Amino acid sequence: MKPQIIKAVRGMQDIFPDEAARWVSLEALARDVSDRYGFGEIRIPLVESTPLFVRGIGRETDIVEKEMFSFSDAGGKELSLRPEGTAGVVRAYLEHGVYARQPVSRFFYLGPMFRRERPQAGRRRQFHQYGVEVLGEGAPELDVEVMDLLELFLSVVGVKGTILAVNSVGCSACREPYRVQLQQWLMERKERLCENCRRRLSRNPLRVLDCKNPDCREILADSPVLLDYVCPDCRSHHERVIAGLKSLGLPFREESRLVRGLDYYTRTVFEVYSSDLGAQDALAAGGRYDGLVEELGGPPTPAVGFSVGLERLLICLEGKEMPAPSPLMPSVYCVGLDAESTSANFLLAARLRRLGLGVRLDHSGRSLKSQLREANRLGVDFVLIRGQEELEAGTVKLKDMREGGEVSLPASPDEIGVRLSGGGPIEARSV
Ligand code: HAM
Repeated sequence: MKPQIIKAVRGMQDIFPDEAARWVSLEALARDVSDRYGFGEIRIPLVESTPLFVRGIGRETDIVEKEMFSFSDAGGKELSLRPEGTAGVVRAYLEHGVYARQPVSRFFYLGPMFRRERPQAGRRRQFHQYGVEVLGEGAPELDVEVMDLLELFLSVVGVKGTILAVNSVGCSACREPYRVQLQQWLMERKERLCENCRRRLSRNPLRVLDCKNPDCREILADSPVLLDYVCPDCRSHHERVIAGLKSLGLPFREESRLVRGLDYYTRTVFEVYSSDLGAQDALAAGGRYDGLVEELGGPPTPAVGFSVGLERLLICLEGKEMPAPSPLMPSVYCVGLDAESTSANFLLAARLRRLGLGVRLDHSGRSLKSQLREANRLGVDFVLIRGQEELEAGTVKLKDMREGGEVSLPASPDEIGVRLSGGGPIEARSV
């Protein structure tokens, strides 16, 4: 008897050479844009100890309750294929004591993730993500910088017509009074909720907000909103995020009922939707997770990140030519001597990155000395310095870290860009 053909596992796909070329281009563009924001690549294992995800993502989440590929190995160890990258990045950061060596760490990753969901267009059991994570910085402007990176990446690859939705889920302190209120509200409607929600209601009522059941969704449309309960610190964080998005001119909408399907989020959460995607319309998602490092046994460390689903991105790009990544450009560290100069640098950084340059800046108001030390540690090509004197004169000071020397330049992104790139035709690389 002829042996039967063995097929690929349901929801897992082969990629042949004609298609693989598009994947390679997409990955090259992700590396290019990551580089412009000072992110270095991290490669973490595909398999981790199951408790990492149970503790990191949350026991009562869909991912942990029903979507993980978990198994015990021959030695009886409980292992899982990674369903996402954030928990693994934090595990690596802690295990290797990275926090003790550098104040802020910026990682990006590319690779497959595994979730046992019902396969459909844009939903696979093995799918790929491009993700970024920043650990060690809590400023709201960093949340904006990360969303700016996402926006730039999507525009570089050529995705059009996406919507960025932003919300705050507060911190563990302000979530408690909300949790009590929500639980009471849900209890009054318990009979109309699905079985899953009824079960989650007593232990983790916030997870009910994430239910996809259409009947539950209809009931939840009138539920109390978390943003009405957040503490003054979380509110001011959120207001600075909104102000930052406006100052960069990034289109977004506030979505007061946006919650995420993973338990680690605090304060800022966001999602990007695309109308090209049908039912599975979330192209990318992320947010702050200030408690996760501690939850996994590390020191208190604020953090923020996102990931993009690459299969979904390729659906949006069907029939479109993939652009080539721009050549490697010099890097610059922008030093602000006060809050006003730092926020001027924030806008300048966004413009310079759109010209292809690699730009880093400090959001936490550290001293000149420690910003310069950080610039040195990063080995940047240039340091740009701006304080009150420069702001008044409409200039910036530019130090060449490779050749030595210092010049004063008009604070125009185009002029600075041309100077930094050695006078070359910088427009050719612009987005
Ligand atoms: P997530 O929302 O679970 O977040 O996934 C992010 C993106 O991965 C989704 O928006 C979607 O594009 C894609 N994705 C998720 N599941 C599937 C699937 N079954 N098939 C195809 N694509 C899928 C996270 O994973 C977080 N780790 C994001 C993050 C990073 N938050 C902070 N840092």
